[in-house]
Amino acid sequence: MTPDRFRRLGHVLIDRIADYREQLPTLPVRAPTAPGDVLAALPPSPPETPDDAEALLADLDRIVLPATTHWQHPSFFGWFPANSDLSAVLGDLASSGLGVIGLSWVAGPALTEVEQVVVGWARQLIGLSPAWSGVIQDTASTATLVALLCARERATGLAFGQGAPRTAVYASSHAHSSVRKAALLAGMAFREVRVDDRWRLDPADLEARIAADVAQGVVPAAVVATTGTTTTTSLDPLAEVAEVAGRHGAWFHVDAAMAGTAALLPECRWMLDGVEQADSLVWNAHKWLGATFDCSLYFVRDTEHLTRVMSTSPSYLRTAVDDRVANLRDWGIPLGRRFRALKLWFLLRSEGAEALRVRIRRDLDNARWLEARVRAEPGWEVLAPVHLQTVCVRHRPDGADDDAVDAHTLAWAERLNASGAALVTPAQLDGRWMVRVSVGALQTEREHVEALWDAMRANATSR
Ligand SMILES: Cc1ncc(COP(=O)(O)O)c(C=O)c1O
Repeated sequence: MTPDRFRRLGHVLIDRIADYREQLPTLPVRAPTAPGDVLAALPPSPPETPDDAEALLADLDRIVLPATTHWQHPSFFGWFPANSDLSAVLGDLASSGLGVIGLSWVAGPALTEVEQVVVGWARQLIGLSPAWSGVIQDTASTATLVALLCARERATGLAFGQGAPRTAVYASSHAHSSVRKAALLAGMAFREVRVDDRWRLDPADLEARIAADVAQGVVPAAVVATTGTTTTTSLDPLAEVAEVAGRHGAWFHVDAAMAGTAALLPECRWMLDGVEQADSLVWNAHKWLGATFDCSLYFVRDTEHLTRVMSTSPSYLRTAVDDRVANLRDWGIPLGRRFRALKLWFLLRSEGAEALRVRIRRDLDNARWLEARVRAEPGWEVLAPVHLQTVCVRHRPDGADDDAVDAHTLAWAERLNASGAALVTPAQLDGRWMVRVSVGALQTEREHVEALWDAMRANATSR
């Protein structure tokens, strides 16, 4: 594509995206699409000759848009708010436009140093001390894998696979599945720690499981605590967990994928109490904060250990400035690195921290508003403390037993989701179905939460 054609098409596309964001409230939140619809609409073989630009854009409208679930919709209350602020969209576009890959500092001096600066800004925004350094990873799953690899190497004196003893990772039964996956990939045993009645990791059970392993010669290499678990946004007691991990010399990783954003608010900082005793932390700026997916911030205290574990230095990547710069390939798994920092840079500069705080407070208020309504309504329950922006609810028809409530929950959530009026996520809590309402899309105002509550009641009480 020539620059001139790009300019013409690009202007049309930017207009189209702006129109899309404005039209979102009129669209059904969940794609009313059947499996295979998109496959059937697309030709099975690639074009030999160029399609004209208008046809390409028309197919975005005709094929892609109707088969898209609209995460940016003001009535999107599904999984988590994957906010993609338009400022970050521009940053992402700038990154693709520059087309630079950060194999080394020399391959992208600005890529490296803008990343260092914006990750430092992000650190300050959530109140982490200057003892931390950070880097952008694609996802929290990758960041947690990096943390566990570093933990394993620290526990085995960099001797994994060379006769070192078995290592284990400990996390609660409510930790994200990515922790278990990372343990598997790192070749470490995964130990599930019990939770208390608020789904927080139980430090006494952690201690007991570590003791059992130590007695068997298994090295307790890492403990993962979560602030803002996926199902209920419960908050593990970081200070107590740190104390147990520290006593056993285990690496302490904090999964703040969701709650990191809340820590922009001074009144929410308590959620991270104890974090300064951790070795690493991940926070997803592509959740809630507004930096278009993918943008996970990984913070560590010991960067020397990180780079010792992760560095590779083949001759074709060595440069004369290596002893004076950060080569971010040594801070994670992939060699190639996108200029992801641009989306965070654009977001923070174009919005400013205070506007982000105002939005986060709005979302917390909206979640509390919904919590109060649900609590006050006969037949409805709120199942977990609402620390963040997620409200876990259940409707119990008169006289229904647990099995009937399960079936009812799945049925009303599906009716609501199929209506296109809003999107919520059914999930199991202690083996029983409930509905997670995750508030916090960029455009979600009180009126959308009010409309959701009306729709929830209408769908739960209609047959
Ligand atoms: C608490 C928590 N940790 C980790 C993850 C995994 O995030 P990612 O998709 O960035 O790997 C999630 C995803 O929702 C999460 O809720």
